[in-house]
Amino acid sequence: MAQKNFYLTTPIYYVNDEPHIGHAYTTILADVISRFHRANGDEVFFLTGLDEHGQKVQQAAEKRGRQPQEHCDLLAPRFIQLWEKLEIKYDDFIRTTQERHTRIVQQVLQDVYDKDDIYMAEYEGWYSVSEERFITDTEKDSGEFRDIKKIQEKNYFFKMSKYQDRLIEHIQSNPEFIQPEHRKNEILGFLRQPLNDLCISRPKSRMSWGIDLPFDDEYVTYVWFDALLNYVSGPGYGSDEAKFNKWWPADVHLIGKDILTTHCVYWPTMLFSMGVELPKTIFAHGWWLTGDTKMSKSLGNVVNPLDLIDEYGVDPVRYYLMSEMVLGQDANFTMESFIKRFNSDLANDFGNLLNRVSGLIGKYFDGVIPELGELTPSEQPVVEKINALESQVAESINQLKVQEAVDQILQLVRLVNKYMEEQAPWRVAKEDLSAAGRILYTATEALRVVAVHLTAVMPDKTRTVLEVLGALGTGSQWGQLTSGTKLKEHDALFPRLELPAE
Ligand code: ME8
Ligand code: MG
Repeated sequence: MAQKNFYLTTPIYYVNDEPHIGHAYTTILADVISRFHRANGDEVFFLTGLDEHGQKVQQAAEKRGRQPQEHCDLLAPRFIQLWEKLEIKYDDFIRTTQERHTRIVQQVLQDVYDKDDIYMAEYEGWYSVSEERFITDTEKDSGEFRDIKKIQEKNYFFKMSKYQDRLIEHIQSNPEFIQPEHRKNEILGFLRQPLNDLCISRPKSRMSWGIDLPFDDEYVTYVWFDALLNYVSGPGYGSDEAKFNKWWPADVHLIGKDILTTHCVYWPTMLFSMGVELPKTIFAHGWWLTGDTKMSKSLGNVVNPLDLIDEYGVDPVRYYLMSEMVLGQDANFTMESFIKRFNSDLANDFGNLLNRVSGLIGKYFDGVIPELGELTPSEQPVVEKINALESQVAESINQLKVQEAVDQILQLVRLVNKYMEEQAPWRVAKEDLSAAGRILYTATEALRVVAVHLTAVMPDKTRTVLEVLGALGTGSQWGQLTSGTKLKEHDALFPRLELPAE
Protein backbone atom coordinates (compact mmCIF):
# COMPACT_ATOMS: atom_id res chain seq x y z
CA MET A 1 0.00 0.00 0.00
CA ALA A 2 1.49 3.34 -1.02
CA GLN A 3 1.56 5.93 1.75
CA LYS A 4 -0.85 8.81 1.45
CA ASN A 5 -2.89 11.46 3.21
CA PHE A 6 -6.04 9.99 4.67
CA TYR A 7 -8.93 12.15 5.87
CA LEU A 8 -11.68 10.43 7.84
CA THR A 9 -14.72 11.83 9.65
CA THR A 10 -17.47 10.71 12.02
CA PRO A 11 -20.85 12.42 12.22
CA ILE A 12 -20.82 15.31 14.64
CA TYR A 13 -23.19 14.19 17.38
CA TYR A 14 -26.06 16.23 18.78
CA VAL A 15 -25.40 17.50 22.26
CA ASN A 16 -28.98 16.95 23.27
CA ASP A 17 -28.09 14.03 25.49
CA GLU A 18 -25.29 11.82 26.79
CA PRO A 19 -23.40 9.71 24.26
CA HIS A 20 -24.45 6.06 24.07
CA ILE A 21 -23.04 2.89 22.57
CA GLY A 22 -24.09 3.87 19.02
CA HIS A 23 -22.03 7.06 19.12
CA ALA A 24 -19.17 5.15 20.70
CA TYR A 25 -19.32 2.59 17.88
CA THR A 26 -18.86 5.00 14.97
CA THR A 27 -16.13 6.85 16.83
CA ILE A 28 -14.22 3.68 17.74
CA LEU A 29 -14.59 2.44 14.16
CA ALA A 30 -13.07 5.69 12.90
CA ASP A 31 -10.29 5.45 15.48
CA VAL A 32 -9.45 1.86 14.54
CA ILE A 33 -9.36 2.69 10.82
CA SER A 34 -7.19 5.74 11.56
CA ARG A 35 -4.77 3.69 13.63
CA PHE A 36 -4.41 1.05 10.93
CA HIS A 37 -3.64 3.79 8.41
CA ARG A 38 -1.11 5.45 10.70
CA ALA A 39 0.55 2.09 11.28
CA ASN A 40 0.85 1.79 7.52
CA GLY A 41 2.72 5.11 7.41
CA ASP A 42 -0.17 7.21 6.12
CA GLU A 43 -0.68 10.72 7.37
CA VAL A 44 -4.13 10.82 8.92
CA PHE A 45 -6.59 13.57 9.71
CA PHE A 46 -9.40 12.17 11.86
CA LEU A 47 -12.13 14.69 12.58
CA THR A 48 -15.00 14.31 15.01
CA GLY A 49 -17.05 16.76 17.03
CA LEU A 50 -20.44 18.05 18.06
CA ASP A 51 -23.53 19.40 16.38
CA GLU A 52 -24.69 22.10 18.76
CA HIS A 53 -27.40 24.05 16.95
CA GLY A 54 -31.01 23.31 16.06
CA GLN A 55 -34.34 22.61 17.65
CA LYS A 56 -33.36 19.36 19.38
CA VAL A 57 -30.53 21.02 21.27
CA GLN A 58 -32.63 24.11 22.01
CA GLN A 59 -35.40 21.91 23.45
CA ALA A 60 -32.95 19.85 25.49
CA ALA A 61 -31.55 23.07 26.99
CA GLU A 62 -35.05 24.42 27.75
CA LYS A 63 -36.00 21.19 29.44
CA ARG A 64 -33.07 21.63 31.81
CA GLY A 65 -33.78 25.33 32.28
CA ARG A 66 -30.52 26.40 30.66
CA GLN A 67 -29.35 28.69 27.92
CA PRO A 68 -28.44 26.64 24.81
CA GLN A 69 -24.77 27.59 24.86
CA GLU A 70 -24.52 26.81 28.55
CA HIS A 71 -26.14 23.44 27.87
CA CYS A 72 -23.66 22.69 25.07
CA ASP A 73 -20.71 23.67 27.24
CA LEU A 74 -21.92 21.30 29.95
CA LEU A 75 -22.54 18.38 27.61
CA ALA A 76 -19.46 18.69 25.38
CA PRO A 77 -17.05 17.42 28.07
CA ARG A 78 -19.14 14.25 28.46
CA PHE A 79 -18.31 13.36 24.89
CA ILE A 80 -14.69 14.44 25.13
CA GLN A 81 -14.15 12.47 28.36
CA LEU A 82 -15.76 9.37 26.90
CA TRP A 83 -13.49 9.58 23.87
CA GLU A 84 -10.49 9.91 26.16
CA LYS A 85 -11.56 6.85 28.12
CA LEU A 86 -12.08 4.93 24.91
CA GLU A 87 -8.57 5.93 23.73
CA ILE A 88 -9.89 7.78 20.71
CA LYS A 89 -7.00 9.60 19.03
CA TYR A 90 -8.76 12.20 16.92
CA ASP A 91 -6.77 14.97 15.25
CA ASP A 92 -9.40 17.68 15.59
CA PHE A 93 -12.61 18.15 17.51
CA ILE A 94 -15.06 20.60 16.01
CA ARG A 95 -18.02 22.22 17.71
CA THR A 96 -20.45 24.02 15.43
CA THR A 97 -20.71 26.95 17.85
CA GLN A 98 -17.02 27.72 17.33
CA GLU A 99 -16.28 30.90 15.43
CA ARG A 100 -13.99 29.05 13.00
CA HIS A 101 -17.11 27.15 11.90
CA THR A 102 -19.92 29.74 12.10
CA ARG A 103 -17.87 32.16 9.99
CA ILE A 104 -17.48 29.56 7.23
CA VAL A 105 -21.17 28.65 7.29
CA GLN A 106 -22.05 32.30 6.73
CA GLN A 107 -19.47 32.61 3.99
CA VAL A 108 -20.85 29.56 2.17
CA LEU A 109 -24.43 30.78 2.55
CA GLN A 110 -23.46 34.12 1.02
CA ASP A 111 -21.62 32.41 -1.86
CA VAL A 112 -24.51 30.11 -2.63
CA TYR A 113 -26.95 33.03 -2.35
CA ASP A 114 -24.82 35.11 -4.73
CA LYS A 115 -24.94 32.24 -7.21
CA ASP A 116 -28.74 32.48 -7.16
CA ASP A 117 -29.02 29.03 -5.63
CA ILE A 118 -31.07 30.34 -2.68
CA TYR A 119 -34.56 31.87 -2.91
CA MET A 120 -37.44 32.67 -0.56
CA ALA A 121 -40.86 30.98 -0.63
CA GLU A 122 -43.90 30.12 1.42
CA TYR A 123 -43.82 26.57 2.67
CA GLU A 124 -46.18 24.19 4.35
CA GLY A 125 -45.15 20.73 5.42
CA TRP A 126 -44.56 18.13 8.10
CA TYR A 127 -41.52 18.63 10.26
CA SER A 128 -39.88 15.91 12.32
CA VAL A 129 -38.03 17.41 15.26
CA SER A 130 -36.29 14.14 16.08
CA GLU A 131 -34.75 14.00 12.60
CA GLU A 132 -34.51 17.79 12.25
CA ARG A 133 -35.95 17.82 8.75
CA PHE A 134 -39.13 18.25 6.73
CA ILE A 135 -40.57 14.90 5.73
CA THR A 136 -42.85 13.89 2.85
CA ASP A 137 -46.42 12.67 3.30
CA THR A 138 -45.30 9.13 2.55
CA GLU A 139 -42.61 9.35 5.21
CA LYS A 140 -45.15 10.72 7.68
CA ASP A 141 -47.53 7.84 6.97
CA SER A 142 -44.75 5.28 7.42
CA GLY A 143 -44.99 5.86 11.17
CA GLU A 144 -41.20 5.84 11.46
CA PHE A 145 -40.90 9.48 12.43
CA ARG A 146 -41.47 10.91 15.87
CA ASP A 147 -42.17 14.46 17.03
CA ILE A 148 -44.00 15.53 13.89
CA LYS A 149 -45.72 18.86 13.45
CA LYS A 150 -47.28 20.78 10.61
CA ILE A 151 -45.41 23.95 9.84
CA GLN A 152 -46.38 26.78 7.52
CA GLU A 153 -44.01 29.69 7.07
CA LYS A 154 -41.90 31.78 4.72
CA ASN A 155 -38.42 30.39 4.38
CA TYR A 156 -35.28 30.32 2.29
CA PHE A 157 -34.71 27.40 -0.03
CA PHE A 158 -31.60 25.91 -1.59
CA LYS A 159 -32.04 24.86 -5.23
CA MET A 160 -31.22 21.24 -4.60
CA SER A 161 -33.42 20.08 -7.50
CA LYS A 162 -31.10 21.83 -9.94
CA TYR A 163 -28.34 19.32 -9.12
CA GLN A 164 -30.41 16.13 -9.22
CA ASP A 165 -29.17 14.87 -12.61
CA ARG A 166 -25.59 15.70 -11.83
CA LEU A 167 -25.82 13.81 -8.54
CA ILE A 168 -27.30 10.71 -10.18
CA GLU A 169 -24.56 10.81 -12.78
CA HIS A 170 -21.89 11.13 -10.08
CA ILE A 171 -23.25 8.23 -8.06
CA GLN A 172 -23.45 6.01 -11.12
CA SER A 173 -19.97 6.76 -12.37
CA ASN A 174 -18.32 6.50 -8.92
CA PRO A 175 -19.27 3.12 -7.48
CA GLU A 176 -17.19 3.72 -4.33
CA PHE A 177 -19.02 6.99 -3.54
CA ILE A 178 -21.90 5.51 -1.51
CA GLN A 179 -21.21 2.28 0.36
CA PRO A 180 -22.32 -0.37 1.01
CA GLU A 181 -23.91 -1.10 -2.36
CA HIS A 182 -27.46 -1.52 -1.03
CA ARG A 183 -27.32 2.01 0.42
CA LYS A 184 -26.26 3.33 -2.96
CA ASN A 185 -29.27 1.64 -4.53
CA GLU A 186 -31.50 3.11 -1.85
CA ILE A 187 -30.32 6.61 -2.73
CA LEU A 188 -30.65 5.99 -6.47
CA GLY A 189 -34.19 4.78 -5.80
CA PHE A 190 -34.94 7.94 -3.83
CA LEU A 191 -33.55 10.02 -6.71
CA ARG A 192 -35.97 8.47 -9.21
CA GLN A 193 -38.60 10.87 -7.80
CA PRO A 194 -38.19 14.56 -8.56
CA LEU A 195 -35.99 16.11 -5.87
CA ASN A 196 -37.49 18.98 -3.85
CA ASP A 197 -35.55 22.09 -3.01
CA LEU A 198 -34.17 22.17 0.51
CA CYS A 199 -35.56 24.51 3.14
CA ILE A 200 -32.45 25.96 4.74
CA SER A 201 -33.75 28.55 7.18
CA ARG A 202 -35.79 28.80 10.37
CA PRO A 203 -37.51 32.04 11.40
CA LYS A 204 -36.10 33.19 14.73
CA SER A 205 -39.65 33.60 15.99
CA ARG A 206 -39.91 29.79 15.98
CA MET A 207 -36.33 28.65 16.50
CA SER A 208 -33.48 30.98 17.28
CA TRP A 209 -30.64 28.61 18.21
CA GLY A 210 -28.56 28.68 15.05
CA ILE A 211 -26.28 30.73 12.83
CA ASP A 212 -27.76 33.95 11.41
CA LEU A 213 -28.33 34.03 7.68
CA PRO A 214 -25.88 36.66 6.39
CA PHE A 215 -28.54 38.10 4.08
CA ASP A 216 -31.51 38.14 6.50
CA ASP A 217 -31.08 38.41 10.25
CA GLU A 218 -34.70 37.41 10.98
CA TYR A 219 -33.62 33.86 10.18
CA VAL A 220 -31.10 31.28 11.34
CA THR A 221 -29.59 28.51 9.20
CA TYR A 222 -31.16 25.09 9.11
CA VAL A 223 -29.10 22.79 11.34
CA TRP A 224 -28.11 20.32 8.59
CA PHE A 225 -26.86 23.06 6.25
CA ASP A 226 -24.73 24.20 9.19
CA ALA A 227 -23.62 20.75 10.46
CA LEU A 228 -22.55 19.19 7.16
CA LEU A 229 -20.16 22.06 6.54
CA ASN A 230 -18.04 20.92 9.52
CA TYR A 231 -16.40 18.46 7.16
CA VAL A 232 -14.84 21.35 5.24
CA SER A 233 -14.55 24.01 7.95
CA GLY A 234 -12.60 21.47 10.07
CA PRO A 235 -9.71 21.12 7.61
CA GLY A 236 -9.62 24.85 6.89
CA TYR A 237 -11.97 25.59 3.98
CA GLY A 238 -12.12 29.34 3.44
CA SER A 239 -9.42 30.01 6.03
CA ASP A 240 -6.35 27.85 5.36
CA GLU A 241 -6.11 26.93 1.72
CA ALA A 242 -2.95 24.83 1.96
CA LYS A 243 -4.37 22.74 4.78
CA PHE A 244 -7.70 22.31 3.03
CA ASN A 245 -6.07 21.22 -0.21
CA LYS A 246 -3.93 18.76 1.68
CA TRP A 247 -6.93 16.91 3.13
CA TRP A 248 -9.87 17.53 0.85
CA PRO A 249 -11.62 15.59 -0.67
CA ALA A 250 -12.28 13.47 2.41
CA ASP A 251 -11.45 9.80 1.96
CA VAL A 252 -14.34 8.55 4.08
CA HIS A 253 -17.34 10.05 5.84
CA LEU A 254 -18.39 7.33 8.29
CA ILE A 255 -22.06 7.57 9.22
CA GLY A 256 -24.95 5.46 10.50
CA LYS A 257 -27.72 4.58 8.06
CA ASP A 258 -30.05 6.99 9.90
CA ILE A 259 -28.40 9.96 8.23
CA LEU A 260 -27.94 8.58 4.73
CA THR A 261 -30.13 11.07 2.85
CA THR A 262 -28.64 14.17 4.40
CA HIS A 263 -25.12 12.93 3.56
CA CYS A 264 -25.76 11.45 0.14
CA VAL A 265 -28.21 14.04 -1.23
CA TYR A 266 -28.04 17.33 0.70
CA TRP A 267 -24.28 17.37 1.17
CA PRO A 268 -23.16 16.58 -2.41
CA THR A 269 -25.60 19.09 -3.90
CA MET A 270 -24.33 21.74 -1.48
CA LEU A 271 -20.78 20.97 -2.62
CA PHE A 272 -21.83 21.17 -6.28
CA SER A 273 -23.19 24.65 -5.66
CA MET A 274 -20.05 25.66 -3.75
CA GLY A 275 -17.88 24.35 -6.58
CA VAL A 276 -16.03 21.98 -4.25
CA GLU A 277 -15.14 18.36 -5.05
CA LEU A 278 -17.23 15.62 -3.45
CA PRO A 279 -15.86 13.29 -0.76
CA LYS A 280 -14.53 10.00 -2.13
CA THR A 281 -16.67 7.70 0.02
CA ILE A 282 -19.68 7.95 2.30
CA PHE A 283 -19.97 4.75 4.25
CA ALA A 284 -23.20 4.02 6.18
CA HIS A 285 -23.07 1.29 8.79
CA GLY A 286 -26.09 -0.41 10.40
CA TRP A 287 -27.56 0.01 13.86
CA TRP A 288 -26.86 -1.55 17.20
CA LEU A 289 -30.12 -2.88 18.46
CA THR A 290 -30.83 -3.29 22.15
CA GLY A 291 -33.91 -4.25 24.05
CA ASP A 292 -33.95 -7.65 22.42
CA THR A 293 -36.84 -9.44 24.11
CA LYS A 294 -34.55 -12.38 24.83
CA MET A 295 -32.37 -10.20 26.97
CA SER A 296 -33.04 -10.99 30.58
CA LYS A 297 -34.27 -8.24 32.83
CA SER A 298 -31.35 -8.47 35.23
CA LEU A 299 -29.02 -7.40 32.44
CA GLY A 300 -31.01 -4.25 31.68
CA ASN A 301 -31.30 -2.95 28.14
CA VAL A 302 -29.75 0.49 28.12
CA VAL A 303 -26.15 0.20 27.18
CA ASN A 304 -24.03 2.94 28.68
CA PRO A 305 -20.48 2.74 27.37
CA LEU A 306 -19.02 4.12 30.61
CA ASP A 307 -20.56 1.33 32.69
CA LEU A 308 -19.22 -1.27 30.28
CA ILE A 309 -15.72 0.18 30.35
CA ASP A 310 -15.72 0.33 34.12
CA GLU A 311 -16.80 -3.27 34.36
CA TYR A 312 -14.78 -4.91 31.57
CA GLY A 313 -12.10 -2.44 30.50
CA VAL A 314 -11.70 -0.41 27.33
CA ASP A 315 -10.12 -3.04 25.11
CA PRO A 316 -12.86 -5.70 25.36
CA VAL A 317 -15.49 -3.05 24.58
CA ARG A 318 -13.60 -1.86 21.52
CA TYR A 319 -12.94 -5.43 20.46
CA TYR A 320 -16.54 -6.53 20.83
CA LEU A 321 -17.94 -3.59 18.87
CA MET A 322 -15.43 -4.07 16.06
CA SER A 323 -15.78 -7.83 15.74
CA GLU A 324 -19.48 -8.31 16.36
CA MET A 325 -20.97 -5.98 13.73
CA VAL A 326 -20.88 -7.19 10.14
CA LEU A 327 -20.22 -4.43 7.67
CA GLY A 328 -23.41 -2.60 6.72
CA GLN A 329 -25.78 -4.79 8.74
CA ASP A 330 -27.55 -4.26 12.05
CA ALA A 331 -26.28 -6.07 15.13
CA ASN A 332 -27.80 -6.91 18.45
CA PHE A 333 -26.02 -5.76 21.55
CA THR A 334 -26.48 -8.33 24.27
CA MET A 335 -24.39 -9.01 27.35
CA GLU A 336 -24.55 -12.66 26.45
CA SER A 337 -22.86 -12.16 23.08
CA PHE A 338 -20.39 -9.76 24.71
CA ILE A 339 -19.35 -12.33 27.28
CA LYS A 340 -19.26 -15.17 24.78
CA ARG A 341 -17.00 -13.28 22.45
CA PHE A 342 -14.83 -12.15 25.31
CA ASN A 343 -14.38 -15.71 26.52
CA SER A 344 -13.81 -17.32 23.13
CA ASP A 345 -11.61 -14.78 21.36
CA LEU A 346 -9.93 -12.89 24.17
CA ALA A 347 -9.71 -15.26 27.13
CA ASN A 348 -9.37 -18.63 25.34
CA ASP A 349 -7.59 -17.74 22.12
CA PHE A 350 -5.51 -14.60 22.58
CA GLY A 351 -5.04 -14.34 26.35
CA ASN A 352 -4.38 -18.03 26.74
CA LEU A 353 -1.62 -17.99 24.12
CA LEU A 354 0.33 -15.49 26.22
CA ASN A 355 -0.18 -17.59 29.35
CA ARG A 356 0.96 -20.73 27.62
CA VAL A 357 4.12 -19.41 26.04
CA SER A 358 5.20 -17.42 29.06
CA GLY A 359 4.46 -20.37 31.36
CA LEU A 360 6.48 -22.79 29.25
CA ILE A 361 9.34 -20.38 28.65
CA GLY A 362 9.36 -19.83 32.41
CA LYS A 363 9.49 -23.51 33.09
CA TYR A 364 12.04 -24.68 30.51
CA PHE A 365 14.08 -21.56 29.70
CA ASP A 366 14.14 -19.60 32.96
CA GLY A 367 11.80 -17.03 31.41
CA VAL A 368 14.27 -16.15 28.63
CA ILE A 369 13.10 -16.23 24.99
CA PRO A 370 14.90 -19.22 23.38
CA GLU A 371 16.79 -19.37 20.08
CA LEU A 372 14.77 -20.17 16.96
CA GLY A 373 17.44 -22.38 15.39
CA GLU A 374 16.53 -23.98 12.04
CA LEU A 375 12.94 -23.74 10.82
CA THR A 376 11.28 -27.07 10.01
CA PRO A 377 8.25 -27.75 7.78
CA SER A 378 6.03 -27.64 10.89
CA GLU A 379 6.59 -23.91 11.22
CA GLN A 380 5.77 -23.21 7.56
CA PRO A 381 2.01 -22.56 7.99
CA VAL A 382 2.68 -20.10 10.83
CA VAL A 383 5.42 -18.25 8.99
CA GLU A 384 3.35 -18.12 5.80
CA LYS A 385 0.31 -16.77 7.61
CA ILE A 386 2.46 -14.07 9.24
CA ASN A 387 3.94 -13.10 5.89
CA ALA A 388 0.49 -12.90 4.28
CA LEU A 389 -1.24 -11.12 7.14
CA GLU A 390 0.02 -7.60 6.55
CA SER A 391 -1.48 -7.33 3.09
CA GLN A 392 -4.63 -9.21 4.12
CA VAL A 393 -5.23 -6.72 6.92
CA ALA A 394 -4.42 -3.74 4.70
CA GLU A 395 -6.81 -4.93 2.04
CA SER A 396 -9.65 -5.43 4.50
CA ILE A 397 -9.06 -2.02 6.04
CA ASN A 398 -8.98 -0.37 2.61
CA GLN A 399 -12.46 -1.77 2.11
CA LEU A 400 -13.37 -0.62 5.65
CA LYS A 401 -13.97 -4.24 6.66
CA VAL A 402 -12.58 -3.97 10.16
CA GLN A 403 -14.44 -7.06 11.25
CA GLU A 404 -12.76 -9.04 8.47
CA ALA A 405 -9.33 -7.69 9.42
CA VAL A 406 -9.85 -8.74 13.03
CA ASP A 407 -10.94 -12.14 11.85
CA GLN A 408 -7.77 -12.56 9.76
CA ILE A 409 -5.65 -11.73 12.80
CA LEU A 410 -7.56 -14.12 15.03
CA GLN A 411 -6.97 -16.85 12.45
CA LEU A 412 -3.27 -16.54 13.18
CA VAL A 413 -3.97 -16.90 16.92
CA ARG A 414 -5.99 -20.07 16.29
CA LEU A 415 -3.38 -21.43 13.93
CA VAL A 416 -0.68 -20.99 16.55
CA ASN A 417 -2.78 -22.55 19.28
CA LYS A 418 -3.23 -25.54 17.00
CA TYR A 419 0.50 -25.59 16.23
CA MET A 420 1.20 -25.66 19.97
CA GLU A 421 -1.23 -28.53 20.49
CA GLU A 422 0.36 -30.52 17.69
CA GLN A 423 3.96 -29.76 18.57
CA ALA A 424 3.45 -30.15 22.34
CA PRO A 425 6.67 -28.36 23.39
CA TRP A 426 6.04 -29.47 26.99
CA ARG A 427 6.68 -33.06 25.82
CA VAL A 428 9.45 -32.24 23.34
CA ALA A 429 11.35 -30.31 26.04
CA LYS A 430 12.04 -33.51 27.91
CA GLU A 431 14.09 -34.97 25.03
CA ASP A 432 15.17 -32.08 22.83
CA LEU A 433 15.40 -28.68 24.46
CA SER A 434 16.48 -26.85 21.30
CA ALA A 435 13.46 -28.24 19.40
CA ALA A 436 11.21 -27.02 22.22
CA GLY A 437 12.97 -23.65 21.91
CA ARG A 438 12.18 -23.50 18.21
CA ILE A 439 8.50 -24.18 18.85
CA LEU A 440 8.23 -21.66 21.66
CA TYR A 441 10.12 -19.01 19.72
CA THR A 442 7.73 -19.50 16.80
CA ALA A 443 4.60 -19.32 18.95
CA THR A 444 5.85 -16.29 20.87
CA GLU A 445 6.86 -14.55 17.67
CA ALA A 446 3.37 -15.16 16.28
CA LEU A 447 1.88 -13.76 19.47
CA ARG A 448 4.04 -10.67 19.02
CA VAL A 449 2.82 -10.22 15.44
CA VAL A 450 -0.78 -10.61 16.58
CA ALA A 451 -0.28 -7.95 19.24
CA VAL A 452 1.27 -5.57 16.69
CA HIS A 453 -1.70 -6.00 14.34
CA LEU A 454 -4.31 -5.76 17.08
CA THR A 455 -2.84 -2.54 18.47
CA ALA A 456 -5.32 -0.52 16.42
CA VAL A 457 -8.23 -2.34 18.05
CA MET A 458 -6.90 -2.89 21.59
CA PRO A 459 -4.20 -0.31 22.31
CA ASP A 460 -3.94 -1.21 26.02
CA LYS A 461 -3.66 -4.97 26.22
CA THR A 462 -1.51 -5.26 23.13
CA ARG A 463 0.91 -2.86 24.75
CA THR A 464 1.04 -5.12 27.78
CA VAL A 465 1.85 -8.11 25.58
CA LEU A 466 4.59 -6.25 23.74
CA GLU A 467 6.06 -5.06 27.04
CA VAL A 468 6.10 -8.60 28.39
CA LEU A 469 7.93 -9.72 25.24
CA GLY A 470 10.31 -6.75 25.28
CA ALA A 471 9.05 -5.96 21.78
CA LEU A 472 7.53 -2.47 21.98
CA GLY A 473 7.97 -0.63 18.69
CA THR A 474 8.55 -3.75 16.57
CA GLY A 475 6.81 -4.26 13.21
CA SER A 476 4.56 -6.96 11.83
CA GLN A 477 7.15 -8.91 9.81
CA TRP A 478 8.38 -12.34 10.91
CA GLY A 479 11.54 -12.56 12.99
CA GLN A 480 11.65 -9.41 15.11
CA LEU A 481 11.42 -11.15 18.47
CA THR A 482 14.79 -11.07 20.21
CA SER A 483 16.07 -14.35 21.64
CA GLY A 484 17.71 -13.91 25.03
CA THR A 485 15.12 -11.38 26.19
CA LYS A 486 13.82 -12.02 29.68
CA LEU A 487 10.00 -12.04 29.76
CA LYS A 488 8.36 -9.65 32.19
CA GLU A 489 5.93 -10.79 34.85
CA HIS A 490 2.27 -10.37 33.92
CA ASP A 491 -1.28 -11.14 35.00
CA ALA A 492 -3.79 -13.01 32.88
CA LEU A 493 -4.70 -10.70 29.99
CA PHE A 494 -8.40 -11.48 29.94
CA PRO A 495 -9.60 -13.59 32.86
CA ARG A 496 -12.67 -15.59 31.82
CA LEU A 497 -16.07 -14.09 32.57
CA GLU A 498 -19.04 -15.98 33.92
CA LEU A 499 -22.35 -15.65 32.09
CA PRO A 500 -24.71 -13.84 34.45
CA ALA A 501 -27.40 -16.10 35.90
CA GLU A 502 -30.86 -15.74 34.34
O1 ME8 B 1 -27.56 12.62 13.45
N1 ME8 B 1 -26.23 2.18 16.17
O2 ME8 B 1 -26.39 13.16 15.35
P1 ME8 B 1 -26.79 11.97 16.34
C1 ME8 B 1 -25.18 2.60 15.45
N2 ME8 B 1 -25.98 15.61 14.46
N3 ME8 B 1 -24.80 3.89 15.37
C2 ME8 B 1 -25.51 4.80 16.04
C3 ME8 B 1 -26.64 4.43 16.80
C4 ME8 B 1 -26.99 3.05 16.86
N4 ME8 B 1 -28.01 2.60 17.56
N5 ME8 B 1 -27.13 5.55 17.35
C5 ME8 B 1 -26.35 6.58 16.95
C6 ME8 B 1 -26.88 13.39 14.09
N6 ME8 B 1 -25.36 6.13 16.16
C7 ME8 B 1 -26.37 14.67 13.47
C8 ME8 B 1 -25.21 14.33 12.54
S1 ME8 B 1 -23.29 14.99 10.80
C9 ME8 B 1 -22.93 16.33 9.81
C10 ME8 B 1 -24.63 15.50 11.79
C11 ME8 B 1 -24.29 6.93 15.56
O3 ME8 B 1 -26.33 12.40 17.68
C12 ME8 B 1 -24.30 6.80 14.04
O4 ME8 B 1 -23.06 7.20 13.55
O5 ME8 B 1 -28.20 11.58 16.16
C13 ME8 B 1 -25.36 7.82 13.67
O6 ME8 B 1 -25.30 8.19 12.32
C14 ME8 B 1 -24.99 8.95 14.60
O7 ME8 B 1 -24.58 8.31 15.81
C15 ME8 B 1 -26.14 9.92 14.84
O8 ME8 B 1 -25.82 10.78 15.89
MG1 MG C 1 -30.11 10.70 15.54
